Amino acid sequence: MKELIANINKDIQSFVAKSSEELEQFRILFLGKKGKIQDLFADFKNVAPEERKEIGILLNDLKNIAQQKIDSFKDSFQSVIEKKAPADLSKPADFIELGARHPLSVMRNEIISIFSRIGFVVSEGPEIEDDWHNFSALNFPPEHPARDMQDTFFIEKSAEKGDIALRTHTSSVQVRMMENNKPPVRAIFPGRVFRNEAISARAHCIFHQVEGLYIDKNVSFADLKQCLLYFAKEMFGENTKIRLRPSYFPFTEPSAEMDISCSICGGEGCNICKHTGWVEILGCGMVDPNVLENCGIDSKEYTGFAFGMGIERITMLRYGIKDLRLFFENDVRFLKQFEGAL
Ligand code: DAH
Repeated sequence: MKELIANINKDIQSFVAKSSEELEQFRILFLGKKGKIQDLFADFKNVAPEERKEIGILLNDLKNIAQQKIDSFKDSFQSVIEKKAPADLSKPADFIELGARHPLSVMRNEIISIFSRIGFVVSEGPEIEDDWHNFSALNFPPEHPARDMQDTFFIEKSAEKGDIALRTHTSSVQVRMMENNKPPVRAIFPGRVFRNEAISARAHCIFHQVEGLYIDKNVSFADLKQCLLYFAKEMFGENTKIRLRPSYFPFTEPSAEMDISCSICGGEGCNICKHTGWVEILGCGMVDPNVLENCGIDSKEYTGFAFGMGIERITMLRYGIKDLRLFFENDVRFLKQFEGAL
């Protein structure tokens, strides 16, 4: 058996293929179903048990050598064919796929650009927050439901050190801004936020917000309203109307929610605005004096306003997107539609 293997090995080593037909004949002769190597494998059962290990290794090596021989010739024939093929100079050039910015980035950039035109700077804060910045400094009472396990992804619950969680809103960055800067402060804070919610067409556990804050002497609710009207017109068009409805947030007093006249139907009534002609886009209000004091700002000297909006919501309204999940699936057919948007 060993001798046979050695002879076949020699034949394989010395083989030179001149054409792909010859190579195929070689394959059939050695590696085919009735080929020489297969015959040897069939005889293997007659090998004495003490020799089996050694012969087995030799046989497997032999098979690999034959296969390598075939592969090496195949490659060389292939490259000959490729070299011989004349270049087709009339062939159109390969199409270069253009990347596209994610629609949420496009909208984030646009929001930043709109507010920067009226003097707002951009600042960011951490996604992992302590209880103070996400809740306590913002005037959330200890028993407020937003602190509950249902809404918040806690990372660490600790009575002495305070809880650590993924921030549930970008309002936390307001606190950092006021703690670290003297008024006047005029800034927006875009970022990712996290809430323990079931994923659906209208809700997600990760989403994006932009928070705005303006603190100075004599800032009034009229300033807030004018600032937001400017934003709504820049974002959704000159004819956009706004409406402020009284609301409640722990960190603003008074608080409001702002609706815009539906950008899809122009206020006529459609599915998006549930036939009311209005869609809610943000929460806002005058910064509660308690919050100013918590952040080291004298509430007798300074007042201010704040607002917060969801970037997904704005993007859905701008582009008529009906399912929030599309933003997170990275389906190229969806993303491709934003090619060229900045
Ligand atoms: N933080 C609020 C939320 O996530 C949004 C918000 C409402 C921010 C009112 C504000 C505000 O600054 O004044 O729902």
